[in-house]
Amino acid sequence: MKINTGVLLAGGTGSRLAPSTNIVNKHFLNIFDKPMIYYSLSILLLLKIRNIKIIVDSDSKDILEELLGTGDEFGISVDYIIQDKPLGLPHAINNIFVKDSKLENFAVVLGDNFLHGREFFNNFYDLIDLEKSNIFFQKVNNPEDFGVLHLDEEQNLIDIVEKPKDFISDLAVTGIYTFDDKFFQYFKSIDLSDRNEFEIADILKLYMKDKSLNHIYLGRGMTWMDMGSNESLLNCSNFVRTIQERQNILVNSPHEVAFRNGWITEEQIEKLYLDNNQSTYFQTLYKNIQSIY
Ligand code: DAU
Repeated sequence: MKINTGVLLAGGTGSRLAPSTNIVNKHFLNIFDKPMIYYSLSILLLLKIRNIKIIVDSDSKDILEELLGTGDEFGISVDYIIQDKPLGLPHAINNIFVKDSKLENFAVVLGDNFLHGREFFNNFYDLIDLEKSNIFFQKVNNPEDFGVLHLDEEQNLIDIVEKPKDFISDLAVTGIYTFDDKFFQYFKSIDLSDRNEFEIADILKLYMKDKSLNHIYLGRGMTWMDMGSNESLLNCSNFVRTIQERQNILVNSPHEVAFRNGWITEEQIEKLYLDNNQSTYFQTLYKNIQSIY
């Protein structure tokens, strides 16, 4: 079974990137040659998810709609849903709840997360357990900036702590999740944290208590970054530039993924290239789709 619905979170305050983010939503900032949101959108497209709900703040909705449109440009369908206040990840996700209609399993991707590597995408549907919620973790050198897993010696999950002040482990929860409709029930039972947000860790702990949380190690072949700080913005841009220039490919282009998925045609890409012929992104895209590699 595949997942049909993807939720992309593109709200929040982006306060770590101010002053730019006082006037523009961080997901529009360029990571090397394309807007940040292209990278997280590509994750959903690589997972073959075509029905995408983007959660965004009211000030950014029109601009985002100008960028991504109905989704036709990528062979997908995009719905825009406003989060009235940046009250945290679960609060953002809860906006997709529709009363009296049962939602199937859905995937959530944080709009500032970068993921590159083949293995995850090739094995995703074998790795996840759709009877449970699934999270992915990676080893990092700054666990204090993330949700962190506490595992026992048998690698069973004991606890999840959001931005721990004291060292628990170096295993961070990445911004890719799958949930079922228990999510909305759990959301009703959590409270705001000390930093005035609903915490995704609190939802995950409820799944854990119900023995329905599956934790999966991303592993060494995968590169995962959070693009929410000045340093990581630059690191990620440099990473993308290095790989793209070395291998003459595009990293996380939603247009290219859509083309390789057979969702858009060469003619559609040619038109985009002709309309934007000064853009190195569209130049590389057009050149790239001529190659099978
Ligand atoms: O990157 C992974 C980490 O993301 C996890 O390890 C943490 O457990 C999780 O809480 C989250 O931490 P961050 O502090 O990095 O979250 P941030 O506030 O940067 O928001 C992540 C994305 O969600 C970002 O693209 C903006 C969006 N967002 C955020 C908030 C607070 C919303 O759409 N609405 C919101 O209210």
